Amino acid sequence: MSDITPSDTQHRAIAAIKHWFQSEADRKQVFRLFGYAGTGKSTVLRFALEELGLEHHCGGGNGEPCTPGVVTATFTGKAALVLRRKGTPARTIHSLIYSVIEATEEEVEAAEKKIEEAVARARGLTGFERTTAEATIEAMRQGVADMKRPRFALNPKSDAAHAKLIVLDEVSHGRRGDGARSAELRQADPRAR
Ligand SMILES: Nc1ncnc2c1ncn2[C@@H]1O[C@H](COP(=O)(O)OP(=O)(O)OP(=O)(O)O)[C@@H](O)[C@H]1O
Ligand SMILES: [Mg+2]
Repeated sequence: MSDITPSDTQHRAIAAIKHWFQSEADRKQVFRLFGYAGTGKSTVLRFALEELGLEHHCGGGNGEPCTPGVVTATFTGKAALVLRRKGTPARTIHSLIYSVIEATEEEVEAAEKKIEEAVARARGLTGFERTTAEATIEAMRQGVADMKRPRFALNPKSDAAHAKLIVLDEVSHGRRGDGARSAELRQADPRAR
């Protein structure tokens, strides 16, 4: 960073971001920075965050004290991985919004055992009672099949609700291959804090 001096245009962009974040973000939630590939958007972003004194957001997992900061989000897991390798904690937008609920192996095994027991009991039944028991077993089997599928739920504890700023630095626009790209800064909804 220290060996780079922002150009005049970059300097104006940095100033515009700072002005937006400090005075306009409560009215205008999104700041978009446009520029052709390689023109210095990510560099502008780094300067602006540094000058605003914003650090990476700390989720405070293990009860550690932490200050709300910047969450970097990407569209794909691959992009998040690349950024993490370069030292920026990044995650997909999807993981910021949803959490995946999966049944544990023990829960699935317990449900399957109940089905086996119900099947054994049904063998001793006849007529209407047997038909009813078989319908129940079918519903239980369907339940186990559903348990094995991951489900998505809105994540109320998402970092997105507590961060000061959400950064999306890989937003392509326009026709594919025309090189015009943008970075997007989004202030986390203050009402959610
Ligand atoms: N003011 C500057 N002086 C010298 N080098 C610079 C300056 N601004 C940016 N660079 C360098 O130019 C290259 C491209 O900059 P940067 O990655 O910020 O562009 P970008 O617009 O984010 O590109 P992309 O669209 O590919 O994401 C980087 O190697 C960066 O270090
Ligand atoms: Mg960039």
